[in-house]
Amino acid sequence: MTKQQLAVRFDRRLAQQFALQFNQDVLRGLTSEPQKWLSAQYFYDEVGSALFEAITALPEYGLTRADSRLLQRHAAEMVRFRPEPLHIIELGSGSGAKTRWLLEAEATRHGTARYTAIDVSAAALEMCRTTLGRIPAVEIETENATYLDGVRVALRNRQPGERVLILFLGSTIGNFPLPDAVQLLIELRGSLQFGDGLLLGTDLMKPIEQLLLAYDDPAGVTAAFNRNLLAHINRELGGKFDLGAFQHDVRFDSEESRIEMHLRSVRPQTVWIEALDRGFRFGAGETIWTESSRKFTMDGVKQLAAASGFEPRMHWTDDEWPFAESLLVAE
Ligand code: TRP
Repeated sequence: MTKQQLAVRFDRRLAQQFALQFNQDVLRGLTSEPQKWLSAQYFYDEVGSALFEAITALPEYGLTRADSRLLQRHAAEMVRFRPEPLHIIELGSGSGAKTRWLLEAEATRHGTARYTAIDVSAAALEMCRTTLGRIPAVEIETENATYLDGVRVALRNRQPGERVLILFLGSTIGNFPLPDAVQLLIELRGSLQFGDGLLLGTDLMKPIEQLLLAYDDPAGVTAAFNRNLLAHINRELGGKFDLGAFQHDVRFDSEESRIEMHLRSVRPQTVWIEALDRGFRFGAGETIWTESSRKFTMDGVKQLAAASGFEPRMHWTDDEWPFAESLLVAE
């Protein structure tokens, strides 16, 4: 068998594994009592990734612009926490547009920048290659994998003296339930060495009306993004969701300091999913919980670092849209 045939076979096996996992996750979430849920990672098929890019351009959604501004302004300082060349590894790269400032800063220091993008979305990685592959001094690699698997692969042949900076931007850490967020950072810390860095982006608390608008924009892009999760199930698993029968529903939970996104069934209905060979009942007004987005305080960020074996070294914050970039160092 040729190398290419082997690669095709491997890709197919990977695709089968992804499909099986998708089946299991949908079954688990839609049979959960009393709250149905769907895992947010399934937002990001090709349509979902494109809709997410559109969200980042919405006037009501200031998060990505704040993240970009901070990276643009402080990139040189951010990469300077170690004198050696850095292997920059990004978790959930998306299109990679805002990463370019860091790569340019690193290339300015050392002539080249080594960059690995990890994303579950092949479409996002494709965009990322187009955006960042063009910068001449950047050596780009992509890993179509979950975060921890991707990091393990990226660091498998780690050279002595190789220094690592992990990027976890866009407040994606806030999309995990707190215990899972801590667990993820602990496992990340476990695959790093003393002195490696983690650049963590976190969205900070702001007025609730502003938050609600950011996740429920008048043009309905975020609503379309949310509903596309059902469309994704329809396409991949032969689901029969009527997208018009589910409403985008956004709330702020003050106790947990997080935005919650739901899909609300507007009437009693049973939805068949071919791949699972069964139907799922929804009461009128019943919701599927699809996403959370935690809003942090600086103290919260420091606690997260302390709980997972990182020392907070530096912070940069944006005043226009409260947001923080924190450089945490593995201790
Ligand atoms: N992490 C960002 C946030 O919490 C981006 C994001 C993740 C998002 N899932 C989302 C934005 C769903 C809108 C809707 O805001």
